[in-house]
Amino acid sequence: MNPTRRNRSLQIFAMTAGALPAAWLIVLALTDDLGANPVERVTHVTGDWALRFLLLSLSVTPLRRLFGWRWVAPLRRTLGLTAFGYACSHFLTYLVLDHFFDWRLIVEDVLERRYVTAGFSAFLCLVPLAATSTRAMIRRLGRRWIPLHRLAYLAAALAVIHFLWLVKSDLREPLVYAAALTLLLGLRFGFWLARSRSRKLSPKEAKSQLSGV
Ligand code: HEM
Repeated sequence: MNPTRRNRSLQIFAMTAGALPAAWLIVLALTDDLGANPVERVTHVTGDWALRFLLLSLSVTPLRRLFGWRWVAPLRRTLGLTAFGYACSHFLTYLVLDHFFDWRLIVEDVLERRYVTAGFSAFLCLVPLAATSTRAMIRRLGRRWIPLHRLAYLAAALAVIHFLWLVKSDLREPLVYAAALTLLLGLRFGFWLARSRSRKLSPKEAKSQLSGV
């Protein structure tokens, strides 16, 4: 398959996979099958998928670097935007269905409940990332785009803290996400270390180090 067609098929696959949890929620809502507390169910499902897609988007670069899978690179943006879509639905569920736009209560919640503060901060980190994800913005920002997009790691860390702080007893699920994020950050650090060491070597030595020869 030619690379353009493969990229397009992969994007379609990622977008379809990204839409499935939302489609499932819509089916459950239409069939009145969201359980005893539908708002809580929607909050949980959208929060879970926002975090999962965020971590998936962060695993694209490590996969490309570790296994030389260049074809995964275009998925990063699709997965990141899918995470943002679920984070928006999650936040909107909280604002509209849970708090009925009661701004006083919402501000109080954001300032006083530490897990809400962490979730809100994670959401704020994602906003500039989504706003600068278009090709035009990538071109306009040039090299500044890369440090800005490291905010995705901060967003993921805050989202994991948000989850850790909100659970009352069973910490297993948020701890799995915390472990995945630690692994991704560790790999990132490893790549950075390898790159800074290779800068100190001669071009020939650097090439053989980076290719693992
Ligand atoms: C990047 C942004 C965010 C992510 C990734 C995220 C993720 C999550 C996750 C994974 C859960 C737990 C779901 C479960 O128990 O299965 C959750 C729950 C929740 N989140 Fe977020 N969240 C984000 C932002 C926010 C924001 C901005 C708010 C509100 C200001 C918020 C409010 C809540 C609430 C109220 C719950 C349910 C708490 C409970 O069950 O007692 N989240 N979120």
